[in-house]
Amino acid sequence: MTKKKQTKVAAKKADGVVKVALLGFGTVGSSVAKVLAESKFPGIALTHVYNRGVERKRSSAAAKFVPSTAVWTENIDDVLKSNVDVVIELMGGINPVEGWLKKAIASGKHVVTANKQLIAYRGVSLQKLAAQHGVQLVYGAAVAGGVPVIPGIRQGLGGDKVVRLSGIVNGTCNYILSRMEAGAEYATVLKDAQGLGYAEANPSADVDGFDARAKLCILSRIALHAELNPDEVATQTISNVEAVDFVYAKELNCTIRQVSRAQVEGAVVHARVAPMLVPLSSPMAWSHGTQNMVVTSGKFGGDVVFSGHGAGGEPTAVAVVSDLLAVSQGAKAVELPVRKRQVTGEFLAPHYLRFVVDDKPGIVSSIAGALAKVGANIDSLLQRPGYPKHKLPFVVTTEPCLTGTIERAMKSIGKLDCMLEKPLTLQILAAEDKAE
Ligand SMILES: NC(=O)c1ccc[n+]([C@@H]2O[C@H](COP(=O)([O-])OP(=O)(O)OC[C@H]3O[C@@H](n4cnc5c(N)ncnc54)[C@H](OP(=O)(O)O)[C@@H]3O)[C@@H](O)[C@H]2O)c1
Repeated sequence: MTKKKQTKVAAKKADGVVKVALLGFGTVGSSVAKVLAESKFPGIALTHVYNRGVERKRSSAAAKFVPSTAVWTENIDDVLKSNVDVVIELMGGINPVEGWLKKAIASGKHVVTANKQLIAYRGVSLQKLAAQHGVQLVYGAAVAGGVPVIPGIRQGLGGDKVVRLSGIVNGTCNYILSRMEAGAEYATVLKDAQGLGYAEANPSADVDGFDARAKLCILSRIALHAELNPDEVATQTISNVEAVDFVYAKELNCTIRQVSRAQVEGAVVHARVAPMLVPLSSPMAWSHGTQNMVVTSGKFGGDVVFSGHGAGGEPTAVAVVSDLLAVSQGAKAVELPVRKRQVTGEFLAPHYLRFVVDDKPGIVSSIAGALAKVGANIDSLLQRPGYPKHKLPFVVTTEPCLTGTIERAMKSIGKLDCMLEKPLTLQILAAEDKAE
């Protein structure tokens, strides 16, 4: 930071009050107002609330947490041209937020945001701009909501060489899969999740892995110092996982979770968001409902586990307000150089393959033949009694092999006449992915 810029930050403190604007007065924005009102942190003043259709927000029950002196506005220039010190962005999405935050940064305002898509796609360029203007861009709430995984990794693990991370970072998928583990069907649980406000009417961003992918890219940047293009990270939907998969997973001493994992190997980062079998002894198997969990593995410090409430207005507001307090006290986040990395979805792992067939002689030998052709070895074959022969689910597990190799074999296996459904392929998290 230049001498001139240090003076500017000090000047904000010298007048005794850090003036704060909220962009977005929805679930998290209104909770931030509540936390600020109830905690009454000295020297912090909420001076502006921006939202479209602002009168609707001003007359909402949550408006009582906003000081009577604050300006409510639907004109963004009222914030951008004001003397606020910190802009808290809680609207979401990339447009128009990116342009507005660039203007805020260029006019010397610090930015706090919980916006994972913005930070995953534009974080590096926004961070550079913030550095040029001597202000901070912080986003502790962008991954795992109320769990301080971002500040924890930045401040607490900056001294380690984190080589691998895996986590459950989408509470909606965790809610769905942990309810399925208890016996419910996917469609029923998804409907419940929508009723409870955990899942959108169009659940694709959650169940197809796009939300978790953005978070994985942010975690890779701060933990592995690797910049990944989110669009290049492999994702797999959880919507093909069925109740029977939990039955077979249990036989393998596992359960199923949507796992986001990344691992550095030289100049390449292996990264994938997918439903995976996790050992029942793994911390990830213990995470239920909307809880989030991230496990990092460091060369020097070993494994560290972060867990807690990954979403919800108030837990997320805690992360936002904590960022605000750090910025207002001049605390600077640890920044280490980040490099653009090539990404691959390939992992060397054992795989779980589930087939639903119209049972006929020779099916197993056809599957074994297709796997042998790509060099994949079968480790076990599971077939529970009690299912009808004309719609028989059974499972093959393989010894460790590359996911791409398995996918090649599954393409030809999927074409067998006896296959009633597209076969399901899941990685089985290996022992070294457990934090013990
Ligand atoms: N909710 C969580 O648990 C959680 C957890 C971690 C991170 N986050 C992140 O926090 C951010 C906010 O999430 P949220 O759950 O609070 O969302 P939300 O309830 O939908 O609130 C967003 C607010 O911003 C307003 N808004 C959106 N686009 C706007 C635009 N173009 N112009 C003006 N106002 C606009 C919305 O107004 P309308 O009412 O008119 O739509 C709404 O009041 C997102 O980036 C989200 O990913 C949320």
